[in-house]
Parts: sequence; structure tokens; C-alpha cells
Amino acid sequence: MIHGPTRLEGSVPTATAKNAVLPILAACLLTEEPCIIRDVPLLEDVRTMAKLLRSLGVAVELRKHTMRISAAGNIERTATYDIVRKMRASYYVLGPLLGRFGDARVSLPGGCAIGPRPVDLHLKGIAALGAEVNLEHGYIHATGRPLRGGTMLLEGASGPSVGATANTMMAAVLADGETVIEAAACEPEVVDLAGFLTAMGAKIEGHGTPVVRIRGVKRLHGADYRPIPDRIEAGTLAVAAAITRGNLEITGCEPEHMVSVVDRLRQSGATVEAGKRRLVVSAERRPAPVTLATAPYPGFPTDLQAQFTALLSFGHGTSVVTENVFEARFLHALELNRMGAKIDINGRTAVIQGMEYLSGAQVMASDLRASAALVLAGIAARGETEVQRIYHLDRGYESLEQKLGALGAKIERVSY
Ligand code: UD1
Repeated sequence: MIHGPTRLEGSVPTATAKNAVLPILAACLLTEEPCIIRDVPLLEDVRTMAKLLRSLGVAVELRKHTMRISAAGNIERTATYDIVRKMRASYYVLGPLLGRFGDARVSLPGGCAIGPRPVDLHLKGIAALGAEVNLEHGYIHATGRPLRGGTMLLEGASGPSVGATANTMMAAVLADGETVIEAAACEPEVVDLAGFLTAMGAKIEGHGTPVVRIRGVKRLHGADYRPIPDRIEAGTLAVAAAITRGNLEITGCEPEHMVSVVDRLRQSGATVEAGKRRLVVSAERRPAPVTLATAPYPGFPTDLQAQFTALLSFGHGTSVVTENVFEARFLHALELNRMGAKIDINGRTAVIQGMEYLSGAQVMASDLRASAALVLAGIAARGETEVQRIYHLDRGYESLEQKLGALGAKIERVSY
């Protein structure tokens, strides 16, 4: 329940990146030695990954925000439908299980609220390493031992794939010989995974560029690692500052990973001061219209499209937002319209006619980032907003209502 409008002000820390932590946790399967992952955010998706690893026989201990993971002993090779259907990132165990044991069975994920999300590129990647891939009873069964290095182009209709690049990297680090991934995703989370794998003893070059080279090694060892800050959480908080015409210092973030986001915030008229591991974002007026199109990194992230759509709904002109990464990622727009926004969706493009104010309403979250957009809109809107299905929010934000509440938002989690 949110009561608006309020102006947010203060200083807020950034959590560690969910999308870096998830593949890194899966990568711990690549060694029988223990790994320590620090500053793990306590999110539903992280709990789901821990549950998945435990179901495979991995010992996972969580103390405060530090996770100790040991994949010694007998490790199962099957990720069941029950877990994969809850979180698509469960797919990240495919590469490491195949790489270490030559055998992995992972349930095919089902549909997704943001459009079709195929796994063909993941399978193309491991097939290029010599794995045999079969579909059996709803499960992908991949086998191959030893895997051997190969060259592959991992480009889909919407460009590179973060997940396929990460999965293939994890399968290739223990393969015989050299692997070359072309059209690799350049996202900071992929770079961070490469950093963790390198800390485990892997030989990787070119991460962060479209051509990643991996020289297979015989074995990997344990590592102690602190993943990167969450650029999407930091971006969400930056939008919170702009949409409430507030003033927030966002600490512990990495502005270098947020160049396109900072650029669009400035275009909207917000003042953004980027320092070392911190951003200060403030706004005084309604946002100016912005044209933006999501794209693979370093382009504008699809994971901040919903939050910017909410921001631009308060603009003093017409903004155009194009979603190029996922086909159907505009469900939040229909909910924003119920709050008085004027958003027309035409295929992959949203035309947003800015309104002076939105009014609180009961709205329904359809996915993780959509839920954040609705919360931000609720804080800036007049009156009471009830955001339902906030389990989506908990998948990717740790106690967002507490963070926003500490900055002045009138927001409360209500259980029925
Ligand atoms: C990851 C992020 C997600 C983010 C997305 C794009 C995690 C856990 N999730 O998702 O938050 O929105 O990157 O930045 O890190 N595709 C195919 N075939 C495949 C795989 C993907 O066609 O085998 C397509 C997808 O449908 C999509 C595009 O490629 O259109 C990009 O998807 P991808 O980068 O793979 O996203 P995820 O790794 O699933």
C-alpha cells in the first residue's frame, strides 16, 4: 500500500547484482572445493538458486550475506520442472553440470509474462562444444565427455544472449582446447562471471567484448568473490529520485555500468552527478520527453524500461519507448493507464503522452521490473495505490519498501 505523492530524499545503498550472483552461484558447481560469495542479496531468486543447488546435493550455507557453497560428494544432474518453472535462471546449472560431469538434465522453462523466451542459443552453445542434446519428457538432456572447444556465433533475432553466453562459458572452461564465442553478450554481469571463473582458475579473454576466448583447463578450484553492484536496482532508485522530484544519493553503485541510463535521466531534465561508486540524482520539474530504445549492453537496459515508462508518464510532452529485447514487455503500461497515464502500445513501441499527475489505484504486477515501475508510480501519484502480486518484486529487490520508506515514501507491505 502506497500513499502519494511524496518527494524522496536521502542516501541509499545499492545491493549486489542479482543477475551477477545467480550465474556465479551456479558456477560453484564447477569445483568440488568450497566457494565463498560475499554480499549476496537476500532475494527470492537467490533463495530459489540455493534451493536448486541443495536439491542437486550441494551444501549451501548462508550467514548474513555470505554464502558458502560446496559441491563436493555426490552431485545430482537434474534440475526439476518444479524449480525451473519458478525461475528461468535455473537454466544456469546446465553449463556447469555438463562441463564438470558430462551430463545434465534441465527442465525446459515454460512461458513468461514478458514474451517468448527460447533457449535455442544455450543449446547451440553447448552443441558447438560437442554435447549431444535431446529433448526428453519436457527436459533437455545434454551429454558429452569430454567437451571439446569450439567456435560458435551466439546471436539471436534480438541480438546476443546474456544467459546463453554465460552458460556456454561455464560449459567451456573445463573443455579440451579453445572455445571462441562470437556475438557474446557484453553485459557487466557476464564480465563478472568471467571474473569469478578466472578466480577459480579458468582462462578467459575478451569478456566484455563480442568475442570471448576460453582455453579449457583440467580443473577449477574454490574462490572467494564479491560480485558487482546491481545497476538495475541503482537505476530504479535513480528513477525514484526523478519521478518524485526528489534528491537521492545512491551509494555503492557503479556509474560506469550505467552510462546510457544516466544519459536518459539527464535528457529528462534530472541532474545527475556521477562519482566514484555513487550517483546523486535530483529533479525539480516534470520530466522532459525522451526517446529511448532498449538494446543489449551498453545500450539502454530492458530491465529499466518499465521504470522509465512510469517516469515519462509524468512528462510534459510525448515520449517514445521502444522495447527491442523482449517481445511483450509492456504489461505495466496497461496498469499505469489505470492510474491515469496515457500510453499507447503499438507492437514494440509505447507512445507516452505525459500527464501532470497520475492517481492512485489498485494495480497488478506482471513481472519483476513491472512491479518496481508500479511502486514508483504509486509513490509519485496522488492518493492510494495498492500493488498486488508483489512476490514479483521480492524476486529481485531486497526489502524495496524499507529502502523507499527510509527515504520518505509512505509505503507499507500488507499481508492478507
Ligand atoms: C538476462 C537477465 C534479464 C535481462 C536480460 C536482457 C538474468 C538472470 N536475467 O536474461 O534480467 O532482462 O538478460 O538483458 O541475468 N534469446 C533467444 N534464444 C536464447 C536465449 C535468448 O532467442 O536461447 C533471446 C531472448 O528471447 C531475448 C534476447 O535473446 O529476446 C535476450 O535474452 P537474454 O539476454 O538471453 O536474456 P536472459 O539471459 O534470459
